[in-house]
Order: sequence, then C-alpha cells, then structure tokens
Amino acid sequence: MSAATEIYYDPYDFAIDENPYPVWKRMREEAPLYYNERYDFYAVSRYADVEAISVDWQTYTSSKGILMEMVKAGIPTPPGLFIAEDPPEHDMHRLILSRAVTPKRVLVLENRIRELCAEYLDPLVGSGRFDLMQDFASQLPMRVIGALVGIPDEYLLTLRDQVEESARLKEEKPQEEQRLPSIGEPYAPFLEFKKANPADDFLTTLIEARFKDVLTGEQRGLSDAEILNYVGMLYAAGVETTARLIGWLGKTLADNPDQRALVVADKSLIHNTVEETLRYEVPSPIQVRVTTRPVELHGQTVEAGKIVTLLTGAANRDPAAFPDPDTFDIRRKMDAHMTFGKGVHYCFGAALARIEGRIALEEILDRFPKWDLDLSGAELIHTATIRGYHKLPVVL
Ligand code: HEM
Repeated sequence: MSAATEIYYDPYDFAIDENPYPVWKRMREEAPLYYNERYDFYAVSRYADVEAISVDWQTYTSSKGILMEMVKAGIPTPPGLFIAEDPPEHDMHRLILSRAVTPKRVLVLENRIRELCAEYLDPLVGSGRFDLMQDFASQLPMRVIGALVGIPDEYLLTLRDQVEESARLKEEKPQEEQRLPSIGEPYAPFLEFKKANPADDFLTTLIEARFKDVLTGEQRGLSDAEILNYVGMLYAAGVETTARLIGWLGKTLADNPDQRALVVADKSLIHNTVEETLRYEVPSPIQVRVTTRPVELHGQTVEAGKIVTLLTGAANRDPAAFPDPDTFDIRRKMDAHMTFGKGVHYCFGAALARIEGRIALEEILDRFPKWDLDLSGAELIHTATIRGYHKLPVVL
C-alpha cells in the first residue's frame, strides 16, 4: 500500500482531531481492527465491535487505566476510581456512590441548573455576540457538579482551570511526559469541613456509608482517598464532557438551521435534539481497554496486555447501526448510541448530562432562537479524550 493511501489515526494529532470522520470511515471500512505502531494501540470503530468489547470486561479490562498514558506508565488505579476498576470492586464502589445521588438531590439540582442558566444567559440577551463556551457552556457543568458535591462557587473557577490545564495536550511535549491530573487532592479541605459539619448532603452520605468490602469481607466505611477520588472522578468525567455537549448543540444547530427551526417550533423535540447531538458529535469519542488474554479480532491475534481503544464517535456514524449516519436529524428514531458507553461502565452521569443538555438547550432557545457562528474565533480543545470547543463565538 502506498503512503498516500495508508490509514493513520491517533487521538493526539490535532489535525486529525479537527475532522476525524474521514479516517474513522476508512477504518470502519478497511481496517476494522486498526493498529497504531507509533503508540502501540489497537482501535475498533464499527458499532458492533465497540458494543461487544464494551460489555466484555473479563477480556477487556479497565483496571490498567482509562487513559493510554495511565496504562503505559503503569499507574495503579487510585482507590474508589471505579471507572478504572473491574467487577467486583467496580460494582461495590459504584453502588455506594449511587446511593449518595438520591432522586431528591437530582430534583434540587434540576432547579439549580435552570437558575444557573438564567444567571449566565440573561446578561447576554441583547449583547449581539458572545462566546458560547467561555460565557456559558464551560461554566455551567462545573457549577452543577459543585452544587451536587457541595463545593463553594468561589473555589470552582480555579479548580476548573487546573483540571482543564492538566488535561490539555502540549504539542511540544512527548506524550509520556504529560502530567496526569492528581484527581482527588484538591477537594480535601471540603471533606475535612464536612466531617466537622455533617448535614443531609452528598458528602455526609459518603462519610457515613457502611458496607461489606467485597475483597476482604470486612464491614467498613469509605477511606478519605476513596471519597476524594469519587469527587475527582465526578468532576473529571462530568465537567469537560457536558461542557462540550452544550458546545456541540450550539455548533450543530447553527450548521443545520432547518433543524433548529423545527425544534424552535416544537419544543417536544428538545429531548431528541440532545440525543441526536450526542450521537452526532461525541464529547469523549475514545475509551481505553487492555486485553487480559490473547484474542482473535478480524482475523488478527491481539496479544494479552495490549491497549484496545473503542472509538465511540466512529461507532455512532456506522451505517450498519444508523441509516444515513452523517446526516444530523433531530427526528431520527434510534435505539442506542455509544456516547455514554455500554456495560458495567455505562456513564454514571448520563441522566444528569441529559438533564443539563435539555435545560441548557431550552434556556438557550427561549432567549436566542437564531445565531450564527464566528468560526474565525473558534478553537477546539485538545485533550486525548475530549473532543469539542474551547471557544465558540456566536453572533446574534
Ligand atoms: C455528555 C456528557 C458525558 C459523556 C459524553 C460521558 C461519557 C462517558 C463514557 C463514554 C463513559 C464510559 C467510560 C468507559 O467505558 O470506559 C462514562 C463513564 C462515567 N461517567 Fe460519564 N459522560 C458524561 C457526563 C457525565 C457526568 C455529568 C458525570 C457525573 C455526574 C459522569 C460521570 C461518569 C462516571 C463516574 C463514569 C464511570 C462509570 C463506571 O465506570 O461505572 N459522566 N461517561
């Protein structure tokens, strides 16, 4: 095969990240098991493969890490970070956290999300132009997680900048030297405060949780590290992703004004508009697994201990799963996209992300039924896992 026709994909390449769809299409068609020699990882891009591997945690473990850098550096999973654990520890940790996210707390959050939308969007009415990411989408999810966990607003901004900065790829640095974020540490002062001031809230529920440890059989409470890593994980998994979803709503609806007019005229389409946007532009389009044994995939053997990435963004454009997949259609009927993953690691915050997406879109459309994009000022964020805008100026 000549160099010109060779398929090349890696998630660190800024140019590919701008528009990965052509290479993902070729991978689905010509290299359903793609191997990247430079970074030594495999990738699957067809819907059926992404789905099958997602549910087979025995063969494709998450316990070696959920970022390629984490796997390569051999960094052990910090306690409680269940996105990077396998059952049974994963299920134990996930269940305990899920008990702290009660329906009542979600309802309170829903009202808070609406208030926050008004706080950000009202001053922008009549402004003529604003940055959808900087002025709104990058702020809202951080404050929602803050409200869930009980972290004061004034602390959140510095925290967001730290997390965003540590996740960003630096073009000049080799991948191995990129710093991994220390996930739970920044929240330690709030845990101490909560221990001294218990209340009917999220952190107190975790502090008071008692359960039987599946590994030791002991009855115990959560360690500080487990609680802090929970918080760090909610923040890391819930803020950047949801911010990008809101950005993609702004981008995709501006690119498809006919679809936007439909949803403006019929607000009952909002739920499906969020769903179709989630399918069409995936905020975190790559998930990482490691093989626990040799496997045969598309006629090739993948040895044990190899990184296999699941390209959920490519799976969502697979014509075998979605007819006419490159068309954005808010009336599309679909079974399930891969945006939130599948199986034991199915996104813990999917319901919250959908609520945020829906309310944000309702509140945007109520104030701004039309907008154009100023793409000369737009900027994509570059991290190994997140795809979406960092800046997205809109003109009213
Ligand atoms: C549009 C927004 C979001 C997207 C696209 C997204 C995507 C995902 C995906 C693909 C996974 C599976 C990872 C894997 O299989 O390795 C996942 C897991 C997870 N997500 Fe989300 N997420 C979003 C929002 C949120 C929010 C708002 C929260 C927190 C409230 C959250 C918390 C988590 C957690 C804790 C996990 C780990 C679940 C487990 O391992 O059992 N996510 N997310």
